[in-house]
Amino acid sequence: MDLKTAIRAIPDHPKPGIVYRDITPLMADGEAFRRTVEGLASAFKAHRIDKVAGIEARGFVFGAALATALGAGFVPVRKRGKLPHDTISRSYSLEYGEDVLELHRDAVAPGERVLLIDDLIATGGTAVAAAELLAELGARPVACAFVIELEGLGGREALAGLTDEVFSLMQFG
Ligand code: PRP
Ligand code: ADE
Repeated sequence: MDLKTAIRAIPDHPKPGIVYRDITPLMADGEAFRRTVEGLASAFKAHRIDKVAGIEARGFVFGAALATALGAGFVPVRKRGKLPHDTISRSYSLEYGEDVLELHRDAVAPGERVLLIDDLIATGGTAVAAAELLAELGARPVACAFVIELEGLGGREALAGLTDEVFSLMQFG
């Protein structure tokens, strides 16, 4: 089975002109979900990752499974107002809006080997904000990983300089 067939396209969601790539069918299919996590884990098993940083919300789903597979810890990069302890924050724009991301100030230690993960990269606004938060704590991500990359929106290019590697399991043009 081609894992791309488990991604559903929803035209004009959440705004006219956006083709929303819905990953929930892939997550609901046990074999597709397992193969996705295994694909990510095999790409990073030699990277000696200390912590996986997952971006709310769908990055939590893949990030937690990946952290377990890699024997790494998991830290959440959350939307504004959700984290209870001392935080740092960044505002950002994404393909269809804008928001604020936050990270606990003690989530990572300087020099830790962090893998940043989200389900999807489009413009890269979200991932850049998350990578900048990690860098502010002295933990530049060694790699940024995505299940889906929407090509042609500049996301990969936006991350250049903030990480050594940008990885995606599947691409849509
Ligand atoms: C989606 C996706 C990424 C982001 C990518 O999240 O999960 O986090 O958009 O877009 P960008 O590359 O243009 O920044 P969304 O903000 O819809 O939040 P959700 O995961 O809570 O649904
Ligand atoms: N996040 C940003 N753009 C998206 C899209 N086209 N589909 C799903 N999530 C997204």
